[in-house]
Amino acid sequence: MKIEEVKSTAKTQRISAHSHIKGLGLDDNGTAIGMAAGLVGQKDAREAAGIVVDMIRSKKMAGRAVMLAGPPGTGKTAIALAIAQELGSKVPFCPMVGSEVYSTEIKKTEVLMENFRRAIGLRIKETKEVYEGEVTELTPVETENPLGGYGKTVAHVIIGLKTAKGTKQLKLDPSVYESLQKEKVEGGDVIYIEANSGAVKRQGRSDTYATEFDLEAEEYVPLPKGDVHKKKEVIQDVTLHDLDIANARPQGGQDILSMMGQLMKPKKTEITDKLRKEINKVVNKYIDQGIAELVPGVLFIDEVHMLDIECFTYLHRALESAIAPIVIFATNRGRCVIRGTEDILSPHGVPLDLLDRLLIIRTLPYSRDELELILKLRGQTEGLVIDDDALTVLSEIGSTTTLRYAVQLLTPASLTARVNGRSNIAKEDIQEVGSLFLDAKSSAKILSQNKDKFMS
Ligand SMILES: Nc1ncnc2c1ncn2[C@@H]1O[C@H](COP(=O)(O)OP(=O)(O)OP(=O)(O)O)[C@@H](O)[C@H]1O
Ligand SMILES: [Mg+2]
Repeated sequence: MKIEEVKSTAKTQRISAHSHIKGLGLDDNGTAIGMAAGLVGQKDAREAAGIVVDMIRSKKMAGRAVMLAGPPGTGKTAIALAIAQELGSKVPFCPMVGSEVYSTEIKKTEVLMENFRRAIGLRIKETKEVYEGEVTELTPVETENPLGGYGKTVAHVIIGLKTAKGTKQLKLDPSVYESLQKEKVEGGDVIYIEANSGAVKRQGRSDTYATEFDLEAEEYVPLPKGDVHKKKEVIQDVTLHDLDIANARPQGGQDILSMMGQLMKPKKTEITDKLRKEINKVVNKYIDQGIAELVPGVLFIDEVHMLDIECFTYLHRALESAIAPIVIFATNRGRCVIRGTEDILSPHGVPLDLLDRLLIIRTLPYSRDELELILKLRGQTEGLVIDDDALTVLSEIGSTTTLRYAVQLLTPASLTARVNGRSNIAKEDIQEVGSLFLDAKSSAKILSQNKDKFMS
């Protein structure tokens, strides 16, 4: 018996540049609050994004696509990540960048397909036979190692579980002991053990211990009611990609295998189209039977102009399929050539027929005051103290170059401040790093002015 939970393969988000963003900052009517949840200004785009969030929540949006379009540094990526925050952790959100499709090992459409499946969630309700309760006793019983040597091995585990109704002592397989250790189970925790697979789930600490220490990270749960041995409804949130992985690699994902296992003998090592089709079939069956529910999430494709015509054709078709997530694109390009074509010009570098099915949200350049507020926010999240006049200079720089450039000056400026023996960033620091590091436009200007000095 081997127990392992299906590991979520949700990508960790690239958020360091956006870590101050906590949501869209809308009020109950969906109106954007001037400065809230880390976002400043850009009201129309935020309100439009709020409507998109509502549509996703009410599941009216699957198979549609939205595009955030606007000049560089106007908050497109920031707003997309705010949408993810609003949706919460139960709705899958898969961020990717257009250029990710170019790999020498994997086909472009394969990359897109994988990310599509990361963005489609499945909520599975299963009634399982479990042993549940507060741990009153946890004793591994050791024996001599049967293979000789000095070590000892665990022969079995004695575990005591208590509920409001009674207490039960169980003698369990050593493999369960491993999963108990993996979940870091101690006396006083509330857990359940699945009877047929032996999988252990720690639900939290029993609330009789709630006053003991006040660790914020700890979740307190009440003592379970009913018998220790019972049938329990277990809810699992996974994505289609999680299922692909769990079934492609036999060593992982025992939990899902308990459901899917009847159909697919775990021999496969690679995710193939055939495997995906089979999984879809099983998933559809479970949906029909009411065991599982589809949760269409969001696939966010940043820098969509990096995709080529082949990808666009694929996307077009994928959006039509019965199980599709909502796709959010973002781009800062104007009219440009569609990649992979000779010379077909199109707005945003996206083919017209795909553009035609999009809802487009525009982001606009910021005013000086808004820039100042955003820079102040960034300073706060990075733990920097910035003088008022330094902030003014910086927002001035931001308005002539880009917001991103101004944000990026903050860290070097804090270093020069430190070199000069200060903990606050002064005007001079900003001016100094501003002359040391160029923004894209001035660098391009220098290049064209000194063409003869560079190799070409
Ligand atoms: N309205 C806003 N409120 C707070 N912070 C913002 C806002 N807009 C942008 N930012 C921050 O400014 C920086 C640049 O914005 P962002 O990366 O979202 O721009 P973008 O439109 O995606 O640009 P690009 O086209 O270059 O990708 C980020 O650190 C972002 O978090
Ligand atoms: Mg961006």
